[in-house]
Order: sequence, then C-alpha cells, then structure tokens
Amino acid sequence: MAFADYQYEIYFSALAGRISDFPMDYETLERRASAAMDPSLLSYVAGGAGDESTQRRNVKAFDNWGLVPRMLVGATERDLTVEAWGMSFPSPLFMAPVGVVGLATGDRHGDIAVAQASAATGVPSHFSTLMEDSLEDVAANLGDTPGFFQLYTPKNRDLAASFVERAEKAGYKGITVTLDTWVPGWRPRDLATGNFPQLRGHVLKNYTTDPVFQELTGGSEDPQVIVGTWASVFGNSLTWEDLDWLRSLTKLPLILKGITHPDDANRAIDAGVDGIYCSNHGGRQANGGLSSLEMLPSVLESVDNRVPVLFDSGIRSGSDVVKAIGLGATMVGLGRPYVYALSLGGVPGLVHQLRATLAEADLLMAINGYPNLAAVRENVQPAN
Ligand SMILES: Cc1cc2nc3c(=O)[nH]c(=O)nc-3n(C[C@H](O)[C@H](O)[C@H](O)COP(=O)(O)O)c2cc1C
Repeated sequence: MAFADYQYEIYFSALAGRISDFPMDYETLERRASAAMDPSLLSYVAGGAGDESTQRRNVKAFDNWGLVPRMLVGATERDLTVEAWGMSFPSPLFMAPVGVVGLATGDRHGDIAVAQASAATGVPSHFSTLMEDSLEDVAANLGDTPGFFQLYTPKNRDLAASFVERAEKAGYKGITVTLDTWVPGWRPRDLATGNFPQLRGHVLKNYTTDPVFQELTGGSEDPQVIVGTWASVFGNSLTWEDLDWLRSLTKLPLILKGITHPDDANRAIDAGVDGIYCSNHGGRQANGGLSSLEMLPSVLESVDNRVPVLFDSGIRSGSDVVKAIGLGATMVGLGRPYVYALSLGGVPGLVHQLRATLAEADLLMAINGYPNLAAVRENVQPAN
C-alpha cells in the first residue's frame, strides 16, 4: 500500500461516519497538544535556548527552498525506500531521540509507545539514553523495525561501555552519540519554573537498571542518591581524542549527532564514524546559530556521499521532509511533532502523525512527478 493511500482511508472512514479525531496539520496539533499536556512537560518540550530565535529559524528556513513540479512523468508509484548501513527502510522518515518521551503518555510508558508505533509503521526511532523504561523493555516492542540507541556518553567510561553493550544485546541496530548536550542549554521557560525532569528523578531507568551505575550508587534506591549520582556522571564533554575509544565500543553503525560544520563532518568520517547527523537539537541547546537546514548543504558537500547524512530540526510536515531529502539528506527526523502527537493521542495518535506525514510527502511526490528520491533532489531550488 502506498503511503498516499492514507488520505482515502481518512475520507472513506468519514463517509462511514467516522471523522478522524487527530489533527491534520501542525498548527492544530501543537495547539491541541499544548492544551492537553501537563504544563511542566509542555514547557520542556516546547521551549528552547535563549529567546528561541534559532528554534524559530529552524522552521522558517524551509520557506527558503521550493519544490518545482514536473509534469507528464506519470509518477503513479513512488519509491521512497532508503538503503543505509546495509538496511532497507520503507521511507526516509525517522523519529529523533527525545529524552522525555517516556513521560508523554498517561501511564509513563511513552518510550514503549514509541516503539509500538515504530513497529506498526516501519518508521524507525532513535531512543534516548533518558528513558522511563529500560532500553531492553523498549526494544522488545520494536517488532521488525530497526531501532537505534542514542547515547549520552557518561563521564564514567565503564558506564558508557555498559550502555552500548546492553543496546547491542537488546538488538538495536546503531549507536547515535549526541555531542551537543553534555550540559543543558540556557532554557528560560524551564529556568523560570525550575523545571528539569532528570533532577526530579524522571527518565533515569537506563541508569538505575545498569550494573555499573548500581555499583556507583552502592545499590541505593534512595532517589536523592540516584539523582546525585546521575548528575555527577551525566555530561562528558567529548573531544576528538575520545573518538577512537567510542569507535572501539561497538561494531554497530556509529552515528554522530550534532555535527553542523563541514570540517567536523570530514574529521569524524576520517575517524571512522558511519553516519553524520546534522542537527542543532531543535534550537534547545545553543541559541544564536543558523538553522540546521542552512548548515545542511555544506555538511553534505563535505561528506560527499561517503556515509549517510541524517537531518533534523524544524521538520513540521511532509513537505519539509521532501525538501530536506531534496537538499540531499539520506533520512529525516521528526522531533517535537511526534511528542505532541503521542501526548495527544497515545500510540494511535502517533501512528496517525507518522502516516499523515508520510502521506503528505508521498502525495507531494506524486503530484510533482517525482517517482523516487533522486527525482526530488533534481527539482528543489532556492526561493528568491
Ligand atoms: C523535549 C525534547 C527532548 C529531547 N531529548 C533529546 C535527547 O534525549 N537526545 C538527543 O539526542 N536529542 C534530544 N532532543 C533533540 C531531538 O533529537 C531533535 O534534535 C529536535 O527535537 C529537532 O528539533 P525539532 O523538534 O524542533 O524539529 C530532544 C528534543 C526535545 C524537543
């Protein structure tokens, strides 16, 4: 079944008297989810660094590019499949790692809900180190869809090695190391209410279930000891000298997240990484930067097809996905929108959001005469 067919499913259901409960556009999704979410979770998800200008710029940057329709192509079938790291993905869409997604469902099993939606749709997810359930319990819900484990590298090397080993054993298919968050950015919305989920003991399950971490706490179950130990090991400010060690931890594809400078991309590939993930963390970490989309072309030029390039920050719709692919990204990550969808509608709400994003992208390719992703790349052009 083509992704585009979801629209007929929606129309035919309506004919049978069932109007979809879920939003069909991002603005409605954000508005309805914001009204439904717990205020502290909303502040953490919606907020960004500084005056949030980089966060806004991430979204606006998509207006600077346009897709040029081609006619008489007969793109009645589209091939959206992506090959990367010896795996085949049904589409370029994936879910970006989001540390508090575990809190986004009423039962606080949001990470498992993401895995279930991933299994149902074939849209892979990168799962944050910061989970409400253990990485093993989450992986058990992935079905046949590959999952990626996103590592926040702890200062304690044994703990880092333990996380990676556990992820391998649990069946994750890649390790995504996030480089830009060894310390949280200046986030006024959260600072104003002293809101930092981890310090309140949330999303630390991967730590509390880890034998190395348990040794560090002396097996204590006292929340203060756990949070204190977590705070003391969390943020490792990695340098280039650490890359060999990171590389030595796993034979799985190693992907570096947070790379936006072409020289950094080049050096990382020389050091043996298998994927570059171009992202500014949705403007949550450093304010005052350009958008991720503005950085993407120079990163792609530097990578020169040597490894897959993942992209996120600012994706709000199917047409954004197509534009990022058009610029040359291998795969494109959804962030905040999927957290809102999960908060609003649980697994069915998230499945809808993923299918709606893919349907919009697929329909755009159909109407614009792009039978495959290569055709998208030939027909994107700067505005102005
Ligand atoms: C609430 C929230 C939590 C996040 N947690 C993580 C995380 O644990 N690890 C990580 O690498 N990125 C994390 N990110 C960043 C996302 O992976 C992604 O880069 C970002 O959401 C993209 O921006 P966008 O959502 O505005 O499109 C988080 C983002 C949000 C919104």
